Amino acid sequence: MATGTLEIVFPERNVKCSIFFGEYLRKSLPISRLHEASSIAIISDDNVSKLYGRRLRDDLSHTHKTHLVTIRHGERSKTLDTASRIAKRLSELGLDRNSVILAVGGGVIGDMAGFVASIFKRGIRYFQLPTTLLAQVDSSIGGKCAVDTSWGKNQLGTFYQPEGIFIDLSVLDSLPSREVVNGVAEIVKSGIIAERTMFEDIERSSDLFEVNRLKGFVPRTVAIKAGVVQADEKEANVRKILNYGHTVGHAIESSSNYRLSHGKCVILGMLCEGWIARKLGIFDESDYLRQSNVLERIRSSHKIVTPVDPKIILSFAALDKKNVSGSIRMSLPEKLGVMSPGDNGSYAIPISKDIFLDSLLCLNKQKV
Ligand SMILES: NC(=O)c1ccc[n+]([C@@H]2O[C@H](COP(=O)([O-])OP(=O)(O)OC[C@H]3O[C@@H](n4cnc5c(N)ncnc54)[C@H](O)[C@@H]3O)[C@@H](O)[C@H]2O)c1
Repeated sequence: MATGTLEIVFPERNVKCSIFFGEYLRKSLPISRLHEASSIAIISDDNVSKLYGRRLRDDLSHTHKTHLVTIRHGERSKTLDTASRIAKRLSELGLDRNSVILAVGGGVIGDMAGFVASIFKRGIRYFQLPTTLLAQVDSSIGGKCAVDTSWGKNQLGTFYQPEGIFIDLSVLDSLPSREVVNGVAEIVKSGIIAERTMFEDIERSSDLFEVNRLKGFVPRTVAIKAGVVQADEKEANVRKILNYGHTVGHAIESSSNYRLSHGKCVILGMLCEGWIARKLGIFDESDYLRQSNVLERIRSSHKIVTPVDPKIILSFAALDKKNVSGSIRMSLPEKLGVMSPGDNGSYAIPISKDIFLDSLLCLNKQKV
């Protein structure tokens, strides 16, 4: 079991987020970290509540006035309406500005609870206790909080840092196997964008989906994300590298009407964006082949197929938040572990619609 602490510090705002590793949900949470909380609200979903939320509430009730607020699991709950209902419930329960929110769940709960914490009484303290692989390596870190709207995913949101993130790797043992690929995609991405040696360890792994092996990659992936977020909290430049594979990936996800999971879409997205980077002469040829080999292994083991017409995928990419004056932008790799800053250091390289479409057409034929 990994232990230890990492910190993300924003000195200009006097804000700090500590990341802890330990058996917090299976055993106990260090109460001292919640100091001076007048009351605690655990926000969780119905699945995670049964597994961990109720036990945590009972445990914390010995020292604090503690409430458990449960919402239905799944992306469909991540709406402004749910946020408003949670806020109303917190009000009824008497939470005040010294109360603390604990987000116990996957990325849906983390995004939702963080969003509520950022607006309730103009902002109260909150902590993340991520329970999916994706939430542990990605969504709980960085302070991006959002809800989905009728006009798109994550369209209303805030940047609001949790005071702490408690990562308990043992909870991954209960995670359904279909959820694992979402975290694996982010682990592989992190190796490609920032740590060649981690990519090489992934490359050598015979079974990339074995949970105990994956646990070893969590602290390394967390450290990569923490470092990038600390360097550029509001995504002015280098934080954009975290979007590798996500421009095409999000467009595939939206155009499939969310039938294809996020992780599978990011795997396809990295195959396309890597292909574009090589075509533009940015990505080293032999490193491109190595990334494609790993991604193709995952693609064939999960039988991931491209669902829809490339032109429809392109129309969704045209709505991407990173676009500038209607032109699609991407962050692309130069080598394994190194991303290209582009001509102006913005890590957002303009991509023509033709090459975008070509990459999708090649995806169907791509065997490296
Ligand atoms: N804020 C960010 O920076 C960021 C980054 C990436 C993704 N996200 C968001 O994350 C969300 C997806 O998160 P997710 O993939 O964790 O999905 P999720 O939160 O929907 O969780 C997936 C499923 O796993 C169940 N579950 C969670 N932990 C479990 C456990 N330990 N054991 C058994 N079941 C468990 C949940 O009940 C749910 O049914 C999306 O809304 C996405 O937009 C945010």
